[in-house]
Amino acid sequence: MAAPERTVSAPDVRARKGEGPPLVMVTAYDAPSARVADDAGVDIILVGDSVAMVVLGYDDTLQVTTADMAHHVAAVARARPRALVVGDLPWLSYHLSREETVRNAAELVRAGAAAVKLEGGRKRLDAVRAILDAEIPVMGHLGLTPQSVHALGGFKVQGKQLDAAQAIVDDAVALAETGCFAIVLECVPDAVARLVTDAVPVPTIGIGAGRHCDGQVLVYHDLLGLEDRLTPKFVRRYASLKADATSAVARFADDVRSGRFPASDETYHLADDVAEALGLYAAT
Ligand code: KIV
Repeated sequence: MAAPERTVSAPDVRARKGEGPPLVMVTAYDAPSARVADDAGVDIILVGDSVAMVVLGYDDTLQVTTADMAHHVAAVARARPRALVVGDLPWLSYHLSREETVRNAAELVRAGAAAVKLEGGRKRLDAVRAILDAEIPVMGHLGLTPQSVHALGGFKVQGKQLDAAQAIVDDAVALAETGCFAIVLECVPDAVARLVTDAVPVPTIGIGAGRHCDGQVLVYHDLLGLEDRLTPKFVRRYASLKADATSAVARFADDVRSGRFPASDETYHLADDVAEALGLYAAT
């Protein structure tokens, strides 16, 4: 019997800097999506706070709590993926005190995450240190940080001006020096992503950051076409599951209304003798 495959760890991901093919990360929020991602062979499953928008129907990511995230991390972990499971720390879960930060990170680990992600650069180094002190690996996230949507004035490409680009590079260097094992770069010009990737000794994982990153991430519902209302420029759709699902449910509705569903072979039948004893064949 073949030995079960070892799960991917944060140090494994860290060791991929400059080694092997680009890292592949996708989001997943429940056991079926985790199974799909893992069967497809991704390296990292991010239980992102994007769950707020793509699953729970909110307009931004600010509405989810640590308890919400733990609920989704636990569902993903129950699929027992080989991929590294990273739990996203939601807004305000790492901003108030070291103690609360560590408690919230630990809640995601107890739910099944093997690492956590948080947004922000030099401002968040205390939070990163506190979590690392509790022996929990931390993934950074720079550029468009959706938890700062109001401060940024919307979901916009970041780092287009000289100062802003330099700040992202400096933030990335600070996160890596503090001990983050990887850094997500979201919606930044490709030249900025390249500068960051060259400046840090840990993998960069891009989303809307061009190809000069050590890996790429997309949101599950975007890449599968389950979310079809908005298509940001950086999303490539590999399926049209929303259209396929709508058509499948419409065909089911049509079959029910026309009496074609259920058919005899989709039905449990009584044995003839029992039916007869019940008088079912008597008067028809
Ligand atoms: O929450 C999320 O899905 C993310 C990715 C976009 C990186 O943070």
